[in-house]
Amino acid sequence: DVIDVRSLVQEGVFTYDPGFVSTAACESAITYIDGNQGVLLHRGYPINQLAENSDFLEVCYLLLNGELPTDAQLEEYKATIKNHSMLHDQMRNFFNGFRRDAHPMAIMCGVVGALSAFYHDQMDITNPKQREITGHRLIAKMPTIAAWCYKYSVGQPFMYPRNDLSYAENFLYMMFGTPCEEYKPNPILAKAMDKIFILHADHEQNASTSTVRLAGSTGANPYACIASGIAALWGPAHGGANEAVLDMLAEIGDESEIERFIEKAKDKNDPFRLMGFGHRVYKNFDPRAKVMRETAHEVLKELGMEDDPQLKIAQRLEQIALEDDYFVERKLYPNVDFYSGIILKAIGIPTSMFTVIFALSRTIGWFSHWNEMNSGANRIGRPRQLYTGHTERDYPKK
Ligand code: ACO
Repeated sequence: DVIDVRSLVQEGVFTYDPGFVSTAACESAITYIDGNQGVLLHRGYPINQLAENSDFLEVCYLLLNGELPTDAQLEEYKATIKNHSMLHDQMRNFFNGFRRDAHPMAIMCGVVGALSAFYHDQMDITNPKQREITGHRLIAKMPTIAAWCYKYSVGQPFMYPRNDLSYAENFLYMMFGTPCEEYKPNPILAKAMDKIFILHADHEQNASTSTVRLAGSTGANPYACIASGIAALWGPAHGGANEAVLDMLAEIGDESEIERFIEKAKDKNDPFRLMGFGHRVYKNFDPRAKVMRETAHEVLKELGMEDDPQLKIAQRLEQIALEDDYFVERKLYPNVDFYSGIILKAIGIPTSMFTVIFALSRTIGWFSHWNEMNSGANRIGRPRQLYTGHTERDYPKK
């Protein structure tokens, strides 16, 4: 049963819900999750069916507009996105202001926030057409921004987007292409990249989306709101998890060490957790993890990397955790980030870029929620608190 607390507030009712475990802050028609059954639906469509039959831009259209596009609508949408994929040339100066060794998430957060300085026209958030243009710009420019964050960090020239390539191919091209030689994206890797984008596109009111909604509820500039989502995503308990998975695999180092790390994860006096296991919402196998698991095997096979030592540790870890009582009782299954980390590593993407790719994918979710919020009645978000400090006291006399 759902309780609408608005009516109870007049009666002085106050709810205390750390971590927002049972408090809904909004109504939304975008994404449905049943964590106990392992169900994830976007606009009613199961995530596995979308991953199987759609591509990322079709899923973007669906999340934003509520219905799958016709062939003509999809073609038009893809052409529009391609039109907006370039970054203003002055944005290069912005990148150049960062230290060479800055984390790409720090760069992305700053650069996306800076878009608010470039596109301050069309900012009437009550106007659906103007909101739509902002959405096109964001979806189109995120792969360019993400790839440039990487290129900047390795000191290679920025690559400009190519309109003859698909969204995922273009991203791989801007990441790995150089002006010196022709780069042809591998179709299996591009497909895997596209699936990573689809599977991370939206996940209802997670920490970063709630942050975007909260920032957006004040009427703030949408690019600044998306930058706030990027900041929230950065933490290891959220988007930083796939990077943390690879760090953990490196720390384990050898298959002979796995048991010791499993014991550490179970020890309540040890802060170590098995990264990539468990989820706040899914107390059953994450449906995205199922798709990612299959994709991981396809990619490893394509690249002939099935015997990679770190990936072998990952497979063994997965097997042990699925059988161990501690993990089974607590329903700690491998989550989507466990497998996406493995795929990204195999493709050759450095771990520091993992969360950047998550942010690229999640931009459509953030934007769709921001757009939904601005399409209807919106009230500024203002959580309550349970005050635990001093009662009133007098300033000591000197
Ligand atoms: N390793 C070992 N034990 C764990 C783990 C883990 N990865 N995750 C949870 N537990 C244990 C907790 O210690 C706790 O045990 P207890 O009941 O004996 O005290 C129990 O399982 C429940 O854990 P909570 O922390 O209450 O679960 P919560 O829902 O708050 O946290 C979270 C979920 C943050 C994802 C957690 O499982 C975790 O830290 N996992 C590792 C990080 C990770 O993979 N994050 C990615 C999430 S997916 C995403 O953001 C897209």
